[in-house]
Parts: sequence; structure tokens; C-alpha cells
Amino acid sequence: MQLVSLSRAYVSLSAISLLLLVTPLSHALWKKESNIKEAVFLSPKFELGPGSVENKYYYDMDFPRGHIGLKSFTGEVVDEEGNSVPLHETYLHHWAVVRYYQRKGTEVVTLSSNDGHRVLSESGPDHILVSNSGICQDNSVSQYFGIGSETRGTATDIPDPFGIEVGNPAEIPDGFEEKWLLNVHAIDTRGVEDRLGCTECKCDLYNITVDEYGRPLKPDYLGGLLCCYHKTQCRVKEGFEGPRRSLYLRYTVKWVDWSDSVVPVKIYIIDVTDTLQVPNGSNSKALSAKHNCKVEYDVESCSNKNKDSNGCIDVKRTSLPMPRGGYVIYGVAHQHAGGIGSTLYGQDGRVICSSIPSYGSGSEAGNEEGYIVGMSTCYPRPGSVKIIDGETVTLESNYSRSSLTHTGVMGLFYLLVAEQLPDQLSKHSSQASLFSNIDNIFY
Ligand SMILES: *[C@@H]1O[C@H](CO)[C@@H](O)[C@H](O)[C@H]1NC(C)=O
Ligand SMILES: *[C@@H]1O[C@H](CO)[C@@H](O)[C@H](O)[C@H]1NC(C)=O
Ligand SMILES: *[C@@H]1O[C@H](CO)[C@@H](O)[C@H](O)[C@H]1NC(C)=O
Repeated sequence: MQLVSLSRAYVSLSAISLLLLVTPLSHALWKKESNIKEAVFLSPKFELGPGSVENKYYYDMDFPRGHIGLKSFTGEVVDEEGNSVPLHETYLHHWAVVRYYQRKGTEVVTLSSNDGHRVLSESGPDHILVSNSGICQDNSVSQYFGIGSETRGTATDIPDPFGIEVGNPAEIPDGFEEKWLLNVHAIDTRGVEDRLGCTECKCDLYNITVDEYGRPLKPDYLGGLLCCYHKTQCRVKEGFEGPRRSLYLRYTVKWVDWSDSVVPVKIYIIDVTDTLQVPNGSNSKALSAKHNCKVEYDVESCSNKNKDSNGCIDVKRTSLPMPRGGYVIYGVAHQHAGGIGSTLYGQDGRVICSSIPSYGSGSEAGNEEGYIVGMSTCYPRPGSVKIIDGETVTLESNYSRSSLTHTGVMGLFYLLVAEQLPDQLSKHSSQASLFSNIDNIFY
């Protein structure tokens, strides 16, 4: 039965009979530990040959359903046997998980191969993007989860009693159902001339001068996502031959059934490239400000000639008002190779969270030399780190400058914030009113 769907599932043979008996999720292997449920899914298959790029959007991905509190999401690239594939073979540039509502009985229609991010970029009559809580413009960086090479070594568990609330029937518009979109961007670097250059999407290595819509790139655009779109090809060493192979993103989702005892957290993603424009005469910075997240930036090369006071460290900063505050429950940064750490500061200069990359030192999956294989995370004691409504936070992203320009690097910061604390904790935190008058200092 159902060979097709089973072939997409990652199940050991011994688990199959059990799986068919107990699970409503036919693609998933799940288990119940205390009240936390866990399921492992496989994305649809994608195929890569040496130097090639896949940037795919999978609508209606397998995902737990119902009114639930999400507790974690992790993933990794595996081959057809389920083996972990190291980053020096398949570089996981990024993956992202996006929530949307789809009108029942309709599907997202993609008109062409480069049309896949339609749901990501705009809502239509039959689908509504459900963005995170901000703070970038429109629908950019709207994902609920998403990182890249560091996936295997980065903690994502949300501590009890907190969770990301999804699937609340009261929030889903009539006639719609909640669905999820998975975007996977992977680059096969077996046999390439310049591994770092391919992962940094250097345009000359891809021989790209126009974007995926055929529009010419600016001559000073040296590298980044515009040069490594779906089906592009990075330069491979002369004579190198390697088989095309089939790969999957294997992802693990943890959740609890929603109940009054779960405390909701909001997702904020702050981008160090965000340049905020505050209109003249506005007295509410947070509400009328226009964000401009560019997601990627370049880090200039460093030589004796262009060293500055920081030596060969590039420090990029942006300061932005948080529309809403709350208690920080979890924080993590996303950086690319070359990154040496990122810190989010409060308006008074206190450290809200610092997140530092760890680099691999071997060749096995999870420890690949030269790649960021994990990011440190922050789990402040709930109630101990508070952001005030409208507080201006400063994000700092540091990279080490090398002899070549790093292109297409990122400096994102992902924060989970609870607007209330569970009852037993809020008693204690109300006295932490260092900021009792902070509203007065803003405007
Ligand atoms: C690079 O692209 C141009 C056209 O876009 C093509 O004529 C040329 O052969 C390509 N070079 C390589 C090495 O593939
Ligand atoms: C804001 O006001 C200043 C001074 O009145 C003016 O020079 C500037 O052009 C204005 N900027 C915008 C974006 O309107
Ligand atoms: C980033 O660089 C600045 C300036 O040198 C330094 O003060 C800060 O501690 C650095 N942060 C991290 C996380 O490396």
C-alpha cells in the first residue's frame, strides 16, 4: 500500500507496522515523550550534480496539524540511504519554513520555475501569507523557522511552558486551511574550483550577469543570491566528473497540543542590513517607520592598505525600535562563513543576547572544517531579560575580513519573545522594573 508516500518517509523497517497502526501522519515517524510530540519528515527529493544549485519551494509540506504549540524545528540534508551529507559536498545555503492559509480546494499555482516564492512575496486571492511578528518590511524574512549550514549544531528547543501557537481555528479565515511552505537552497560543491566562492555565490564563478528574471545585474554586484538561483551552475574543476544524486531535507518537528498552560511566544527576526526610514513629523517611530531589510551584504577584503581601527574585523550595526516588547525566551544569530559573532543590545547598552558561531575541524557531517556548524543560543531565565515596547535595540554582526571580499553574507537575529509570563514567574519579575519609567525617555 501507499508505496509512494511511504518512500518519502524516513522510517526504519521495524517501525513501519507500528507507524501504520498508531499514527495519523502517514509520512511521519513520531513519538510521544511526556507531552512533547516529535515527528521526522522528509522533504520531496531534489537532485544535484557537481556545482549545481537547487532553490525549491515545496508547498503544503508535511507538518503537524491542529491547534498546537511548536517546540522546535531542526533539519539536515540526507541522501537516499538516510546518511547525513557533509557541507563540503552539499552546502545548505538556507532552508526556511513559512506559514500560509490556502483557500480550501485550491492550490498555489506557479507559472514558471522562478515563480516559486510567490507565497513568500505576496498574498493572493487564494492564499494568505502568515508572517512572523516582524520586523522587516512587507513579507521579507517572514519565516517561522530557517537557518543554514549551522543547522546540525544549533539548539532550537523552546523551553516549557512556552510554545509558538499555530493552527488556532479561531484565527484561520473561513474557507481557508493552514499550510506550510518549505524552501530549500542547496549548492553541490563536489569538484568545484573554489568552494568558498561557490557557497558565497560569487557571480563570476556562476558566469551570471542577469538575475533569474533576466534583468541585468549592477556591475558592482559581485555575489549573493541573485547569482546562485535555481538551476545555476558553479564552475567545476576541468575534467571533474561526479554522479548526480538524490537528496532530501530531513526535518524534525516537536510540538505540544495547545492548552491554557502553554504560554505563547512571538517570533521576531532582526536584520543587520535593515536601514530604517522614519518619516518627518512622525511621533511614533515604531509604527510608521519603513524597514528595508536587504538580508545579504558584503564584507570587504582586508589588506595592509585598507585596514581600519578594527584591524581586519568588519563590524556592522543597525538600531531599530521593537514595535512590541516582552520577555526574551530564546535568541540566536545567523551568520555565514567568516562570521565571528553577533550581539543584540538594548537601548541602555545591556546585552540582550550574544550568539557565537562554532566552526568544524574535520570532514564528517556536523564537523566540516571551514564551515559554521553551530551557533550558540541564549536561554535567559524567563523574566530576566526584558525588552520594553518601542525600545530601540542595536544589532551588531562581526565578520573577519579576509584577503578576498566575502559576498552575500548575512546578519540575522532570531528572537522568541513572550508578552506574558506564566503566573508563577510573573510575581517575581514585576519587581524587575529597572525600566519602570523607560517610556518617558523615548519620545
Ligand atoms: C558564460 O555565459 C555566456 C553567455 O551568458 C556564454 O556565452 C559563455 O560561454 C559562458 N561561459 C562559460 C565558461 O560557461
Ligand atoms: C525632512 O525634513 C527636513 C527638514 O525639514 C528636510 O530637509 C527633509 O528633506 C525631509 N525629509 C523627508 C524624507 O521628507
Ligand atoms: C564585535 O565587535 C565589537 C567591536 O570590536 C566588539 O565590541 C564586540 O564585542 C564584538 N562582538 C562579538 C560578538 O564578537
